[in-house]
Amino acid sequence: MAKIILKNAQELDGMRAAGKVAANIRMRLAKEIAPGISTRELDLFARDLIDKEGARSAFINYPGPRGVPPYPGYTCISVNEEVVHGIPGDRKIRLGDIVSIDVGVVYDGFIGDNAMTVPVGVSDLKILELIRVSEQSLMNGIAKAVAGNRLTDISHAIESTVIPFGFGVVRDFVGHGVGRNMHEPPQIYNFGPPGRGPLLKEGMTLAIEPMVNLGTHEVETLSDGWTVVTEDRKYSVHVEHTVAVHDGEPEILTLPDA
Ligand code: MF3
Ligand code: CO
Repeated sequence: MAKIILKNAQELDGMRAAGKVAANIRMRLAKEIAPGISTRELDLFARDLIDKEGARSAFINYPGPRGVPPYPGYTCISVNEEVVHGIPGDRKIRLGDIVSIDVGVVYDGFIGDNAMTVPVGVSDLKILELIRVSEQSLMNGIAKAVAGNRLTDISHAIESTVIPFGFGVVRDFVGHGVGRNMHEPPQIYNFGPPGRGPLLKEGMTLAIEPMVNLGTHEVETLSDGWTVVTEDRKYSVHVEHTVAVHDGEPEILTLPDA
């Protein structure tokens, strides 16, 4: 595996600033989600927020896999059965939806990457549990992002939080190192045995991002080449923080101000 890039004190300050911008925009965007608004309207709202902060979207024009055009949105907005990489468009939010917003920005040369899933008038307790358990899996994963642990201690903590509830942990997409580039080594699986992979060190910055399905863990990509959906079309949740590894407590870089 390629070498994980360690950040010095100055670079960590850059990551803190980018993380704060990404988190504040994520929260502002979350508050705009309501029945009747289209995902394109949400994306353009986010574009304006990113602009006002003097940042850039880390997603727009991101190269696709072979034969797939670059990513066309400023953010990813994934509704219900959409897992990740939902392309903003004409789809309108309805009561009972869950809306995953993924916001990645470049700010002063560093990237902040974060996501959350917002329920819109959801009364189904199983779906609210899916969101709660996914958020808990993220926090339990983050708790393992400490110098001296190994990478897959994070992966295992995420999976073992989810499994007792019978939900499906997506295996085809991963978290990642993050810094001056959105995707740095290592890849961070959301499942698997603990105690494997590289040792975590002070100054590593990681985007940890579990994707958890109500039903099967199997996913497929739609013909647009980006939108990932659950194979059974049941709901899916995506939550993400950018985190710095320290000798002591992990530091979540994508906490909003308010
Ligand atoms: N948070 C996602 C990731 O880490 C968003 C990438 S969308 C893309 O991969 F369009 F930029 F690829
Ligand atoms: Co990410």
